[in-house]
Amino acid sequence: MLDFSNGSAFVDEKFVPISEAKISLLDWGFLHSDATYDVAHVRGGKFFRLNDHLDRFFSGMKMLRMSIPYTRKELTAILSDCVSKSGLQEAYVEMITTRGLPEPGSRDPRTCRNRFFAFAIPFVWITTPGKGLELIVSQRQRIPPQSVNPTVKNYHWLDLVMGQFEAYDKGGETVAVVNGKGNIAEGPGFNIFAVKNGILTTPGEGVLEGITRKTAIEIANELGYDVIQGELSPEAARSADELFATSTAGGIMAITKIDCQKVSTGKVGPITLELQDRYWALHNNPHYAYEIHY
Ligand SMILES: Cc1ncc(COP(=O)(O)O)c(C=O)c1O
Repeated sequence: MLDFSNGSAFVDEKFVPISEAKISLLDWGFLHSDATYDVAHVRGGKFFRLNDHLDRFFSGMKMLRMSIPYTRKELTAILSDCVSKSGLQEAYVEMITTRGLPEPGSRDPRTCRNRFFAFAIPFVWITTPGKGLELIVSQRQRIPPQSVNPTVKNYHWLDLVMGQFEAYDKGGETVAVVNGKGNIAEGPGFNIFAVKNGILTTPGEGVLEGITRKTAIEIANELGYDVIQGELSPEAARSADELFATSTAGGIMAITKIDCQKVSTGKVGPITLELQDRYWALHNNPHYAYEIHY
């Protein structure tokens, strides 16, 4: 009997336990970060906003001139099966398309057959639930949008990972990297919001348009808060009333320290709490929830 309890994967048209999932060393996804991916989460046995994740995934593949032999419906079934085989009620579900391998002796990407992988593992949190993040603002620049389209979810992560090392060295636990103007861009796996006098600001360009970011903007608007999608300077972030990060890996998470100083009182702010409550409540809204049959 195969043991899927630590997670399951879909590789070469087959479901395997996560520990047995393998990729060819020669796949350009591995050799060149030539891949796109998406991550959706499952809470209480239901996907959240799966349709939005699929839209972003299919649009990313199109922009990278990749394709997979599955329809949206087939892909939904593969992802649901990954979760149901693992039995996980709370899961982190990743889908990946790689460029694949070129024909032997060729370096022509047009000769590659794209490959699709998926996996479901236990839910991953960027921070322990309820604990505020301690953010360091790095001078390191996020890979510019002129080089790699940041709205296509990609594995160009060396700027983010090296930024994270810098954050640890400086006494923080995660990082915000900046855009070409020195203003805040995003962090490793999350978007960033600042709240000042009841107005929210989140970087407008040069970032992944996160599904959690989109959800936070929609909730904030419904609650009557204005949201500016524009430049967010490190100074504005340091003097914000509240700061928070958004990610599929944990939802809406307060940032309670920036550059080793408290954000305002150092407590999770009221608007962040309000948005968090609404965010988790939306997971039961049939419009956003897709139930998995185990
Ligand atoms: C670079 C980057 N920014 C932002 C996000 C947040 O996006 P989402 O809310 O869709 O998880 C992610 C997610 O992994 C990411 O990789």
